[in-house]
Amino acid sequence: MEAPPGIGVTTMVKHWRPDSWRAKPIQQVPAYADTAALEAVEARLSSYPPLVFAGEARKLKKGLAAVARGEAFLLQGGDCAESFAEHHPDNIRDFFRVFLQMAVVLTFAGAMPVVKVGRIAGQFAKPRSAPNETIDGVELPSYRGDIINDIAFTPEGRHPDPNRLEMAYRQSAATLNLLRAFAQGGYANLEHVHQWMLGFVKDSPQGHHYQEIADRISESMAFMRACGIDPDTTPSLRTTDFFTSHEALLLGFEQAMTRVDSTTGDWYATSGHMLWIGDRTRQPDHAHVEYMRGVKNPIGLKCGPSLTPDGLIELIDLLNPDNEPGRLTLICRFGANKVFDHLPQLIRAVEREGRSVVWSSDPMHGNTIKAATGYKTRPFDLILREVKNFFDVHKAEGTHPGGIHIEMTGKNVTECTGGARAITDEDLSDRYHTHCDPRLNADQALELAFLVAQLLKASRVGEVRKIAAVAGL
Ligand code: TRP
Ligand code: MN
Repeated sequence: MEAPPGIGVTTMVKHWRPDSWRAKPIQQVPAYADTAALEAVEARLSSYPPLVFAGEARKLKKGLAAVARGEAFLLQGGDCAESFAEHHPDNIRDFFRVFLQMAVVLTFAGAMPVVKVGRIAGQFAKPRSAPNETIDGVELPSYRGDIINDIAFTPEGRHPDPNRLEMAYRQSAATLNLLRAFAQGGYANLEHVHQWMLGFVKDSPQGHHYQEIADRISESMAFMRACGIDPDTTPSLRTTDFFTSHEALLLGFEQAMTRVDSTTGDWYATSGHMLWIGDRTRQPDHAHVEYMRGVKNPIGLKCGPSLTPDGLIELIDLLNPDNEPGRLTLICRFGANKVFDHLPQLIRAVEREGRSVVWSSDPMHGNTIKAATGYKTRPFDLILREVKNFFDVHKAEGTHPGGIHIEMTGKNVTECTGGARAITDEDLSDRYHTHCDPRLNADQALELAFLVAQLLKASRVGEVRKIAAVAGL
């Protein structure tokens, strides 16, 4: 068919609109009783200010393109699900504080920039394994995240309420406002972040393992300061770029936040900088893939054990047809012992087809177990092993282990077992606060960062040796 003048063939074939997903089959949709109320809320949302700007999403995409080239590392993390009840400035601050410390350790060990992306300011909707939940013979709709219904197991609580979309929008705006202030207003000062990190190393039972990296960072900073490079003279040492991300699950909300960027004429999701597609909603002919292929943001795709190499290439064709670096991050979540069974073949397919992607490891979702005490938990050892296996596979394949994607909090919760201050099955009930999956607490998150730092450094040392060998040294 010939394209009408002024319309490129690809545009014509694509037929994408912010609402074109509505004509497709869809998984994981809540059953709203009052659809008129839902439409009214979505109409209001579509007139509200965007939460993020297209230019910021493009900046993130540039950072991720560097990760895809092997020149940067991606740190993505935050709550499994944000909640309305925990919308407190201290929670945001404590999360950011730990996140920045992780970033410093990784920046130093990798000797490369760390692209910082929070699972925050919009991470409210949760996919569920079953639409209903039965407790003591009572059946009610499953909890789908605070943007949809309430965690309280009552008929009113579990009823999907359209007004929650607006509450989630406002909470995201307030959270993002504080994060921007922290990132740009002095809280991210490298010397302060380093001091916090030294406090962690001093207090941790495993601190001696981290002392060497910590000392070398101290020395480097002292050297830079002596050379006149410090946060007072050098703005980039007192600010950082921090981006937001969430699973694009509730498409009515996403559609309402989808806007044309006036400088390029392209569509952008403005609910967050980066959005991802869940492992349960990545059917190529379904609604979630349809929505995501049309927005220009950097996007993520969760890759679980059921994804085949051909299935992955089909999705890449749909989601990144122009092979744009930084557009697509593959977030791998296999389970510690399944990494070797699945990851090598996916990497080989991507390499064979010459596709540019960011490889990231989500060591959380494939390692969830039920403790003897009944709590859903994740053993810290398995989380570590998944990351380690991810690095090993990339080393064997000659590709870049680009990043990690974790569920974490700045609070001292007891949700994942293990770690230097070993949390046992019996401890889980002490401070088990998550609204959904178990998160790493502040100490476990930092410990993980130090261990990933060692892996990163080892892969870098390998790199240096390779260069030396090529140079005949
Ligand atoms: N601006 C640089 C960066 O974001 C250095 C930096 C400043 C930094 N504050 C930081 C790095 C806090 C990590 C954490 O990478
Ligand atoms: Mn989760």
